[in-house]
Amino acid sequence: MSKLRLSLDRENFLAKYWQRTPLLIPQAIPQFKSPIDADELAGLALEEEVESRIVEFENDNWQLHSGPFTEQSFDRSAPWTLLVQAVDHYVEEVAELLKLVDFIPRWRIDDIMISYAVDGASVGPHYDNYDVFLLQAHGQREWRLGQRCDEQTPLKADTDLRIVKDFQSESQQLLSPGDILYVPPGVAHWGIARGECITYSIGFRAPRIADLLSRGVDARLESLSTQEFYRDPDLTSINRPGEISIEDSRRAKNQLLAALNEQNDTRWFGELVTEPKYQLEPVSLSETPGIEDLQQAGTCIGLCADAKLAWQQADDNVVVFANGESIVCGNAILPMIILLCSEGLLEDAALADALNDPDNAALLTALLELGCLELK
Ligand code: SIN
Ligand code: CO
Repeated sequence: MSKLRLSLDRENFLAKYWQRTPLLIPQAIPQFKSPIDADELAGLALEEEVESRIVEFENDNWQLHSGPFTEQSFDRSAPWTLLVQAVDHYVEEVAELLKLVDFIPRWRIDDIMISYAVDGASVGPHYDNYDVFLLQAHGQREWRLGQRCDEQTPLKADTDLRIVKDFQSESQQLLSPGDILYVPPGVAHWGIARGECITYSIGFRAPRIADLLSRGVDARLESLSTQEFYRDPDLTSINRPGEISIEDSRRAKNQLLAALNEQNDTRWFGELVTEPKYQLEPVSLSETPGIEDLQQAGTCIGLCADAKLAWQQADDNVVVFANGESIVCGNAILPMIILLCSEGLLEDAALADALNDPDNAALLTALLELGCLELK
């Protein structure tokens, strides 16, 4: 595979396109070769723990089938597409591709979904709520871009797929291996395979505002005294005692916002956005490697493919977020956590160095116990 760097002016992309406007990046990865072929993708879709779907289209009818599949599932007459979610969790070379977007915070990344489509197949015109980089990996796909959509956009009835009823094609392009099409949230898009093809979707995530509100309020309630009450020292005389005035409601809303604003601890946010995508297997503490295992010569430790790890520097400490939990650490762990998050690996000298510091050693132990790290 060619060097993992996008041919893209990152600053210009973020200033002009991210979350705003689609962008075609021709030959974003020159000479790109897919590290996974159609047979390997089909193999993954047979596995119980892998999330997969088949979409097929016939007689103006879109059908959605959910995996796991059997060999026979791929024997179809109507044009069909196989979509396999989170392939980065299962194939290391695919996970490596996440480095292409390492100019965007890792917590904003969801997964790499890979689709295989036979000639003419498509999942239909639709929009997503998240940003996506559509990397053409094998064969060619025609992408049509359409109107901006939201919850009010009419969708086709009688299908579980969210097909935009009245797709209005505004542009059309044919993508070849190595080309990338960036699509922001809410922009309708429709990809049609021209010959057999494989497409990677590097998909992003963003918490729902409803979840931010619920988690932020829950966290605030933990520290808020139950002995604080609504106050109205500015009350003026009224002559309609049954009325709740607009001013009463405004005062209540302002006091609610003030209570939320008094919250300095925003750990709930890091915990929310590092929640694992899938439920994790329980970690067996008796089988978890200990510090003495890490001290063995030649040991290398790496992030598990499904680990969600992030950190935040506060005034006098560093908070590490790992699979939905938070760990408050001393500032000394900073170089190690930066390296671990960017390289996904701590090798020989870097690991030996890290283990010399008791704070680093304690953090590594906690991360092993949370199922974030594994010996390589
Ligand atoms: C596909 O790969 O067929 C669909 C990807 C998408 O539109 O998000
Ligand atoms: Co899409």
